[in-house]
Amino acid sequence: MTQLSAAQTAQNAPSDGSKALYGGKSTRRITVRDIALAKERGEKWPMLTAYDAMTASVFDEAGIPVLLVGDSAGNCHLGYETTVPVTMDEMTMLSAAVVRGTRRALIVGDLPFGSYQEGPVQALRSATRLVKDAGVGAVKLEGGERSHEQIRLLVESGIPVMAHIGLTPQSVNAMGYRVQGRGEEAAQQLLRDAKAVQDAGAFAVVLELVPAELAAEVTRVLHIPTVGIGAGPETDAQVLVWTDMLGLTSGRVPKFVKKYANLREVMGDAVKEFAQDVVGGGFPLEEHSVH
Ligand code: KIV
Repeated sequence: MTQLSAAQTAQNAPSDGSKALYGGKSTRRITVRDIALAKERGEKWPMLTAYDAMTASVFDEAGIPVLLVGDSAGNCHLGYETTVPVTMDEMTMLSAAVVRGTRRALIVGDLPFGSYQEGPVQALRSATRLVKDAGVGAVKLEGGERSHEQIRLLVESGIPVMAHIGLTPQSVNAMGYRVQGRGEEAAQQLLRDAKAVQDAGAFAVVLELVPAELAAEVTRVLHIPTVGIGAGPETDAQVLVWTDMLGLTSGRVPKFVKKYANLREVMGDAVKEFAQDVVGGGFPLEEHSVH
């Protein structure tokens, strides 16, 4: 990743520094209005997924302003092969835990496959559940033009919506996991999708696995922020799946992921040390015993 120079960072930060989404002084919950103001200032911001209260509290304390309770919980937390089987009950339980574990971050709850495709009324019922029962501040759903009616009704009903276009993993059975927006026709469709979700009232849009130049163009054209994942350096925000970027995911991770730690190794080594201690008598010692 290219590091911003101190001068570039200073240029993007709000004039008094106190309102920045990342590194700002405010401890109240971030709102979608804060997100809109960051786009006006040209400020970039980080977003991570979270699926449980304790991990979410670490990210919140580190200052990550937006946490997504993604349906990537399917593969990263619940042991499914894809996001497709994830249910509303599961998303509600995980989202509530993340809300409970955090104080400052805006929590975005993902609407799982099958919870909004029937139409706007079904989408409203599902989103209302995440807002009322889990306490999320916004929801995310996949699809551009095809989901604009759902987005419009949710926004009119007072529920902020983050859209998600490009690669949409809930459609894996139809599209696979392939780069989207390559070629003139596909690029035009992506631009139409981006404008459709903005017109419907989405407060931000995730661009997943699209060519960097196209993501940059979408970011220039839209007045709402773009959140890139595998979409190059010029989107307004960047999101990564936390188990990928902290090295907990087993096996291969996508090429666009930067690994900031190797938790799988750290945890595996610690657990083996514990096991050897138990077998060899190194644990518990007198200091770990009560009398
Ligand atoms: O579910 C998820 O984690 C997502 C991100 C990859 C954007 O949709």
